[in-house]
Amino acid sequence: MLRIFAQNEIKEAADILKNGGIVAIPTETVYGLAANAFDEKAVKKIFKAKGRPSDNPLIVHISSIEELDNIAYTNEKAYELVKRFWPGPLTIILPKKPIVPYIVTAGLETVAVRFPSHPIAKNLIEAAGVPLAAPSANLSGKPSGTMIKHIINDFGDKIDGAIDGGECVCGVESTVVSLVSKPPVLLRPGFVTPEQLRQILPDLEIAPAVLQQMPENTPVLSPGLKHKHYAPKATAFCVTGETHKAAKYININSFTNKNIAVICFDGEEKLFSAQTVMVYGKASEPEKMARNIFGLLRKTDDLKTDMIFIRTSLSDGIGLAVYNRLLRACNFNVIDADKVDLPFILGLTGQSGAGKSTAAHILENYGFKHIDTDKLSREAVYGVIDDLKKAFGNDIVDENGELNRKILAKRAFSTHENTDQLNSIIHKQIMDMVRSRILDYSANGVKRVVVDGAALIEADGLKICDSSIAICADDKIRLNRIIERDKLTESEALLRFNAQKPRDFYTSNTDFTALNDNILQLETEIRAIMEKLKSTDKIL
Ligand code: TXA
Ligand code: MG
Repeated sequence: MLRIFAQNEIKEAADILKNGGIVAIPTETVYGLAANAFDEKAVKKIFKAKGRPSDNPLIVHISSIEELDNIAYTNEKAYELVKRFWPGPLTIILPKKPIVPYIVTAGLETVAVRFPSHPIAKNLIEAAGVPLAAPSANLSGKPSGTMIKHIINDFGDKIDGAIDGGECVCGVESTVVSLVSKPPVLLRPGFVTPEQLRQILPDLEIAPAVLQQMPENTPVLSPGLKHKHYAPKATAFCVTGETHKAAKYININSFTNKNIAVICFDGEEKLFSAQTVMVYGKASEPEKMARNIFGLLRKTDDLKTDMIFIRTSLSDGIGLAVYNRLLRACNFNVIDADKVDLPFILGLTGQSGAGKSTAAHILENYGFKHIDTDKLSREAVYGVIDDLKKAFGNDIVDENGELNRKILAKRAFSTHENTDQLNSIIHKQIMDMVRSRILDYSANGVKRVVVDGAALIEADGLKICDSSIAICADDKIRLNRIIERDKLTESEALLRFNAQKPRDFYTSNTDFTALNDNILQLETEIRAIMEKLKSTDKIL
């Protein structure tokens, strides 16, 4: 039975440990799942509860520098290091003394040792009177737990106790350095950075597995490096590169028929169209990102996310620790958005009859491929016909199964509410069709695409566009155009007009405005816009 202890119940938790039980404990890095390091049976329980491969050794946690000597054969460098960084998020690997059972070290002659700075961890080790073997408290392969709810979620009754110490301040596991290798090697980056370590270990090397996927069967210095780690259930991708390029890449791939989550830098969140957008810190604040990352990855599991895009930047210092965890979370799938060659995408929108299609045809002369969302909506409705019948009546489809667009339009445009309802049904479908068309064009080397749609703004379509134009025309001119084009009576045309957003809704949401009271005017305006785009380097 899992007992949750408060911070002042350390003695009770220590009793469980003394009696051979296992207890989840807070540390400054992540929660650990602890057992008496000298009790083989108890340590076995940790491996079982985590589902941890038996060839992956555990860290032995101590509560004073003096204890190090009981456990490992030390040397001067080791003391220099621990005097500087202990208690704290640094684990060192040294030759083990016989007292440490092989189950803890997974058969190795070396042992990983750490003196955590978290007062609960320290007091608990003291109260237990023995060093504690503790891996991170998570099911093997999952993101580490940084809050008590993560522990309860992963283990429930599979462990004997857990001490609630609130949220872990670091959020990623300790830095691991092997002093057994010559020169010393950083096996896992953490809050103690390579730069800090080099002040004492100038010849410190970084294990290749920190940033690279090692081919199977290559010998690794630390068994933990070869195991799957931090993996959320969804397929994850790290996306590096300039913000807007990354957002464009992510948005084009954020199909709404999948449950997609984006984890992004602070300040980028408004750029994404995915269903779930979560912020984990500024790119310049790796401490904050570290604190949040495992919790957010776990959240994507709760949300049953299918795919995750994680904005990532390779950096030094603590940023290296974050990057190292993310590489594993996404199984080394990294996309450099700066190098993805997507077409330039121009969005065209505006009121009915303003002449979006005409503008799109003019743009074809500038090398643009045209995606006409009006045309797509004709197809899209068939994918959602049952939803439409439910919303607007069965008689929108005639005996032959043909959609009666006139009836649908009449009902759908009769009130703002109905229009919104129609939109919520078909916008997503249309945008997904736009996405796949853009990807097809991109695969075929197309460099410029224009997407035209009256509802591009409402459908969140501008987020995939590099730039956008509102096409505008005089109200009377527009009215006559739609009466003629769609064979409507004047009152039908006015009905449609009334269901529309005002002109400034379009002009204030787009980069450019082009007037189209006549074709010559439109051609001139578009030519000017193309010149401006060229001068801003937006069209290469
Ligand atoms: O911050 C932390 O270090 C947390 C808290 C609970 O202290 N613990 C933690 O433990 O992250 P764990 O087991 O999840 O990670 C320990 C890492 C593993 O990658 C393991 O392979 C490596 O340290 N390790 C342990 N003993 C080793 C040894 N003798 N030689 C090389 N690597 C070792
Ligand atoms: Mg772990």
